Amino acid sequence: MFYARSVCIFVAANFFKVIMQISDLQKAIDQQVALHGWVSNKRTGKGLVFIVLRDGSGYCQVVISEENVSAEVFEHAKNCSLETSIHITGNAVADERQLGGVEVQATTLEIIGDSEDYPIAKKEHGIEFLADKRHLWLRSKRQWAIMRIRNTISFSIHKYFQSEGFMQMDAPIFTGNACEGTSTLFETEYYGDTAYLSQSGQLYGEAMAMAMGKIYTFGPTFRAEKSKTRRHLSEFWMVEPEMAFHDIFQNMDCIEGMMKAIITDVLEQNRAELEILDRDVRVLESSLKEYPRLTYDEAVRIIKGEQDVHGVNSIKSLETELSSKEEERLALEKDIKDRSDAIAAGGMKKGKVNFNQTQIDKAKQTLADVEEDLRNIPQWIESAKNFEYGNDFGGSDETVITRLFDSPIMVYDWPHAVKAFYLKRNPENEAFARGVDVLAPEGYGEIVGGGERETDRDKLVSKINEHQLPMEEFEWYLDLRRFGSVPHSGFGLGLERMVTWICKLRHVRESIPFPRMYGRLKP
Ligand code: 4AD
Ligand code: MG
Repeated sequence: MFYARSVCIFVAANFFKVIMQISDLQKAIDQQVALHGWVSNKRTGKGLVFIVLRDGSGYCQVVISEENVSAEVFEHAKNCSLETSIHITGNAVADERQLGGVEVQATTLEIIGDSEDYPIAKKEHGIEFLADKRHLWLRSKRQWAIMRIRNTISFSIHKYFQSEGFMQMDAPIFTGNACEGTSTLFETEYYGDTAYLSQSGQLYGEAMAMAMGKIYTFGPTFRAEKSKTRRHLSEFWMVEPEMAFHDIFQNMDCIEGMMKAIITDVLEQNRAELEILDRDVRVLESSLKEYPRLTYDEAVRIIKGEQDVHGVNSIKSLETELSSKEEERLALEKDIKDRSDAIAAGGMKKGKVNFNQTQIDKAKQTLADVEEDLRNIPQWIESAKNFEYGNDFGGSDETVITRLFDSPIMVYDWPHAVKAFYLKRNPENEAFARGVDVLAPEGYGEIVGGGERETDRDKLVSKINEHQLPMEEFEWYLDLRRFGSVPHSGFGLGLERMVTWICKLRHVRESIPFPRMYGRLKP
């Protein structure tokens, strides 16, 4: 074994010169290629071993035929377990049935690193188990697809802002002041003083916009959210543009431009990944049109069922959905029972048993979703009917309204009492602040929060007092209104919320490589 390994390292050194990425295989049809990667799947047939090789850039099937390789290599191939790292050489042949359209017929195979008893098997694992194994779970195909989409989104954000003349600048992470309310601050010690981990780079972004015109920050932000929801992380990445001489409506134009640029890039570059995730892309496609802009007042009327959207009423449509979900539940239960009974009766061919078992598993999963809807919908109806004018939207209010649209919507002009201290009052109606939230469709809810900033120093001072924030920490911020104050606006997009919606994930934890959230710090 030791000898084999040293040979393999020697061979590897030679291979490195010509090794190609799986994503480039299309360019090498009918040529000899060398690849390295990990065994993500393996099955054996008569005189054949089929390995699905992954190298990070993609997946491809490698066929090792007893006829084409030495007995030793064939033995190696047969014994390769999941996640063994290997080098192979072989002939690339076009095969439409394979992911990526190429299959490699191997001539050599060398093992680089063994992998014994890889803990993530093909069978279903519980979410807590997978979360504990996040360092390995990231290698799974679904996670690979999500991370690639996340990468496209990040790059797309930079491309959009750079091409629109914004400067990227970085805000500090240690900070002396709150930005988004004191209840979610992570406190830490800073050379004997109290400091906080930044909840948002915005206040610094405003200062930088007064220096550079249009800027954006893109960095980690922290919220001590002591609740387990599908939407909240304790550490997340936020892009925060800030624009001098921009009002709330120009701000909305910018949000919409950025969102469409991101969606366009993902649709262009990540078709295969979206397919792996089983993502129905129609909603993404319909999110390339103009986004409805609703005032808070209109949005509340829609939630409460006092105003229809294209002839659809929020409460009535939820009630209709409730009864159709009830029927779906009965049908699924019957299907599961019928198939289970048929298997139990015996005498069924193995292939048919397997088929029925797969159908049962699928039906059970759908049933779990339907049951969740059946629990949720009555609560949504209740909270929509009882929504109190003047309140901020909760998760269920966002769900109720966004289900009526097939693109993101923008809700603006919020009651100033429920929004952050820095938002400008609507000059025509002081009860409202010029904040804007973007709510994603399909029940995802808020993914962007922003607005036009207050420029009136007295109003800011009274808001800082009202929020019981320490005035001395905001003197520098008030300076921005003392020296050449201008109308300005900005917003924050939570990267993980965007990834979660675009990939249609059930939970935000899958949208970031190593999630930090209430109850989870490791790995
Ligand atoms: O609405 P938020 O709190 O707004 C701000 O922080 C502003 N200072 C932004 C600005 O105007 N520059 O947060 C903005 C976005 C939310 O819409 C959401 O997408 C994301 O940040 N976000 C979270 N994402 C994951 N987990 C959390 N706990 C989040 N809190 C906010
Ligand atoms: Mg918000």
